[in-house]
Amino acid sequence: KGDSGLSEVNLMKKQVSDLEGQLRALQASFSKYQKVAAFPGGRIVGNKVFVTSGYEGTFDDLKQKCLQAGGQLAAPKNAVENTAVQQIVVQHNKSVFLGVTDIQTEGKFRYLNGDAIVYSNWLQGEPNNEKGRENCVEVYVNGKWNDRACGEKRLILCEF
Ligand code: IPD
Ligand code: CA
Repeated sequence: KGDSGLSEVNLMKKQVSDLEGQLRALQASFSKYQKVAAFPGGRIVGNKVFVTSGYEGTFDDLKQKCLQAGGQLAAPKNAVENTAVQQIVVQHNKSVFLGVTDIQTEGKFRYLNGDAIVYSNWLQGEPNNEKGRENCVEVYVNGKWNDRACGEKRLILCEF
């Protein structure tokens, strides 16, 4: 009885040490793929990775492409994330569409899951819903937001 108890402890010790080795390998592998995600144009902020393929299209087109890739259109939720988005806009010198719209209720901007936005960085005077036709949101090279017609073509930026 005592002996079998001891061998069970030894077995568990081996299992824990095996798991420690596997965790170390996983951490090394994860750290490597974080670098892959950030090269050449990706940005990592906390657990979020922003990445563009360089594709340009309308809002619906971009939204679908991000979903298809297992991500979603970028939606910066604080100033640090917005700066990461801005850096990508600057790098490509092309505005992106965010995963933010007021399609559901004019003037009430929401994420694509329907939640009200918790952060915004509107340019002064925006959103102005020019000609009553602007329900999507683009980010300028200065990082500021402008509402814009969803049928315009912008650079894709997904978050994963
Ligand atoms: C417009 C202006 C305006 C902004 C609109 C844009 P456009 O550009 O930049 O300030 O609020 O969203 O459409 O159409 O006159 O080239
Ligand atoms: Ca506008």
